Amino acid sequence: MSANVIVETKSRIKRIEIDRTDKKNALTLDMYAAMADALVAADADGEVRVILIHGKPDCFTAGNDLKDFLARPPHSDSEGEAFRFIRTISITKKPIVAAVGGAAVGIGTTMLLHCELVFAAPDARFQLPFVSLGLVPEAASSFLLPAIAGYQRAAEMLLLAQPFGVDKALAAGFVTEVIPEDELLEHARESAAGLAALPPASVQLTKRLMKRSREALVAEAMAEEGKLFRERLAGPEAKEAMTAFFEKRKPDFSKF
Ligand code: COA
Repeated sequence: MSANVIVETKSRIKRIEIDRTDKKNALTLDMYAAMADALVAADADGEVRVILIHGKPDCFTAGNDLKDFLARPPHSDSEGEAFRFIRTISITKKPIVAAVGGAAVGIGTTMLLHCELVFAAPDARFQLPFVSLGLVPEAASSFLLPAIAGYQRAAEMLLLAQPFGVDKALAAGFVTEVIPEDELLEHARESAAGLAALPPASVQLTKRLMKRSREALVAEAMAEEGKLFRERLAGPEAKEAMTAFFEKRKPDFSKF
């Protein structure tokens, strides 16, 4: 359980709300644990047919809590709630709908690659800042993003690591539709309700069939990314990047 993640099951939809407004919904280890547990519980609960993930209308999530990255880095692939969340979302059987407004940084973008329907507000800002943080991509995004968006689009997003808007996200193929901010959550809920009204076995089997061909490749990419990610996290480039964020200054990579 986490005070910053609200989980509620209603009308066959398990809703997972990220709720840490003062830190732009940055995800702590407790929050990852609560989200992973909610996904596992959703799969196990016959009453649940669809999962809905959202943050605030003006902020989805600023990604992994950078203080946690510095203070509580994972030491092995099996250790670490962030890795557990990522692995879990990649193999969750029930369909996942996401509603994204404002910042969707790091895992805030990579988790979307594992969702079925992604609705985004016009102001949504996506970013994959792994390289600029001295890290490497996670959640199999180094495999999935080139596969979904094409190599050059993925290279721009992952290597230059700059924020981008809904037009690029739509063109890249991981946003389903742009919805005005004040209608975003209701639209996502209605879509989730639409999915929940369909024959549940057919929905889940169709999801499984669509993901079948890339299951092993996703797992393999996550394992390789995870190994490099942990190494990079312990390295001087990541330390400089994250320290600079909290000191509100530009990082200096000239010495590496
Ligand atoms: N981890 C920890 N704290 C974070 C955070 C993160 N990922 N993102 C934001 N915060 C905190 C800030 O430190 C600040 O805290 P403070 O009020 O105690 O100083 C607060 O949230 C507000 O953030 P701020 O940067 O002032 O908001 P903004 O609207 O100017 O910018 C972002 C929003 C999301 C663009 C910016 O916060 C950001 O780039 N965050 C880091 C994203 C990141 O690198 N995530 C890791 C991905 S792997």
